[in-house]
Amino acid sequence: MGGVMDSRRWSSLVLVTLVLATLQSELPGAGAAVSLGTWRIVKENAGVSSMHAIVTPVEGSVVILDHTNSGPTNLTFPDGRCRVTTYDKILKNDCGAHSLVLDPETGALRPLMVWTDPFCSSGNIVADGSIQQTGGDFEGAKLTRSLSPDCYAVEPINKYCDWQENKVANSSTPLYLKWQRWYSTNVLLPDGRQIVFGGKNSKDTCEFTPPSATNQRARTMAFLTMTTDSLTCDTTTNPYCAVSKNGPNNWYPYAYLLPNDMIYLFANRDSIMYDYKKDVVVRNYPKIPGNPRNYPSGGSSVMLPLKWEDGYASAEVVICGGATNTSNAYALGSTSCGRMKVTDPAPEWIMEDMPIPRIMGEMVMLPDGSAIIINGAMAGFQGFKTATVPVLTPVLYSPDKALGLRFTLMKPSVIPRMYHSTANLLTDGSVMIAGSNTNQYYTFRKPANVVSKVFFPTELSVEAFLPPYNLLSLGGRPTITSVDRTVVKLGSLLQVVFNDRTSGPASADKFMFTMNSSPWSTHSYSQGQRMVTLKVSGRISSSYGVDANGTPTNFRQAALAIPRYSKILPPTYYMLWVVKNGNPSNKCTWIQITF
Ligand SMILES: *[C@@H]1O[C@H](CO)[C@@H](O)[C@H](O)[C@H]1NC(C)=O
Ligand SMILES: *[C@@H]1O[C@H](CO)[C@@H](O)[C@H](O)[C@H]1NC(C)=O
Ligand SMILES: *[C@@H]1O[C@H](CO)[C@@H](O)[C@H](O)[C@H]1NC(C)=O
Repeated sequence: MGGVMDSRRWSSLVLVTLVLATLQSELPGAGAAVSLGTWRIVKENAGVSSMHAIVTPVEGSVVILDHTNSGPTNLTFPDGRCRVTTYDKILKNDCGAHSLVLDPETGALRPLMVWTDPFCSSGNIVADGSIQQTGGDFEGAKLTRSLSPDCYAVEPINKYCDWQENKVANSSTPLYLKWQRWYSTNVLLPDGRQIVFGGKNSKDTCEFTPPSATNQRARTMAFLTMTTDSLTCDTTTNPYCAVSKNGPNNWYPYAYLLPNDMIYLFANRDSIMYDYKKDVVVRNYPKIPGNPRNYPSGGSSVMLPLKWEDGYASAEVVICGGATNTSNAYALGSTSCGRMKVTDPAPEWIMEDMPIPRIMGEMVMLPDGSAIIINGAMAGFQGFKTATVPVLTPVLYSPDKALGLRFTLMKPSVIPRMYHSTANLLTDGSVMIAGSNTNQYYTFRKPANVVSKVFFPTELSVEAFLPPYNLLSLGGRPTITSVDRTVVKLGSLLQVVFNDRTSGPASADKFMFTMNSSPWSTHSYSQGQRMVTLKVSGRISSSYGVDANGTPTNFRQAALAIPRYSKILPPTYYMLWVVKNGNPSNKCTWIQITF
């Protein structure tokens, strides 16, 4: 590398680091009037680094899944089990666990056996509450795997409760994938299946899993070909070729099921509305200004809550950050966020800037409808040892505030979470973050041949960040005390009782009732992340009293109208929250939505 360019790059980087360090040290500490959130260590050393993570319905534990073909991890099975294979590239007799289930309250965990490589894969929680995972690398690239709800407890009834390979499924539709699914994105459909989009070696296709007779096994999508930036990408023949030819910049695309039962699919800088039933592109959207947004230029994205207030008619997508140069580990990441109401007839991207540049951040929808942007780096791009300068400071995105006022810097962590890290909303309203492994194997010391600025050790710790919400408001967080049932049909009313601990009527109290899915977090994007607000039918009743400790109680009851259509709320499990004056209940209640 040339000395002049190098030093220039370094000085801009050093400047940003200094500015950020100043910012981070000026944040008010404990006791300040404004809380900027709190951090806690969930587990000092989980033994497995979190590449994929998902919160389990009802149990509320977190399943972490890393790749195999990685050599030893730092967790073994208590009964001495090992994975003896002919196909593992590194260890034919591998006694390390590559997956686990973790209780985020106690830190207790149980290793899970996974037989084939789920490297950079995809998945979702489906209708019956099981995790259905798709693809990976090497011998695992065309397989699907599942984990049954029986296995979600850290101490299950059957202690050998592990990932099942679906390759030996006995049915007429074996759960093999048609093409390799590596860096793909899944969407849970209203009929309970998943559609899997793109990824490496996927031949620019999407496919359904499980497949059905009426749907062909895989469909070629010109959109995926057109959005690929590669060394062979030719701007004269491919108008979608972007500035960088070091792509692909379209793996792990962003995908959302829209209220009209179409799919919004975003890759690189382009997006479409896709009729997955007819295999037709219904609409092309304007290109997002700025940099490419998907792997290895990954930013992050959310669909904002679908709202009863407009009859669940509209959907807005937000995409933030990403890399500006996929051949340079020191190039400053992007600050730019775009937001578009994708259900509008002629929408445009409305752009705003984050206070910190961020590549491979994670955006997690919070129970109050805001989003936390967490993890990632300020410079570089996704991949092994290709990023520098971790971003330790989460940023809160408040979608309902005015443009220019939507970002708030939160209290920073001290642990870098860069490539191969995860972020998930827990059942107490905090966000668990785990992982970070910018090395192919578990590596704790800088190898001699590695430039120190790009080396970060494999991270085995697990933390949780509790956003400030609005905890100083009267009454704090409410408690859900009961629901009339936990299996709830679309279109029905759900009764929820909660205690908000106020001593008298407070007509100014604002309530919000929300449901969040439990998405599959990987590679700076939570696939399957979905949120709705629920309408209260009638009025919220009150019943005042005092508990045994003399603390005021107010048991309130609300009848919540569950959306009628599965295209709004695909049948699966959701976290139900009562949000009072911006404060979510101290726990959610899991609701299984059914037809
Ligand atoms: C992980 O295991 C290796 C090999 O046993 C050991 O050298 C290393 O210190 C361990 N690291 C952590 C963080 O537990
Ligand atoms: C597969 O089908 C065969 C014959 O129908 C049956 O004997 C066997 O138990 C089935 N295996 C599984 C795993 O369901
Ligand atoms: C990206 O980085 C490479 C390698 O450092 C450099 O040669 C190139 O000029 C950069 N491109 C842009 C657009 O900054």
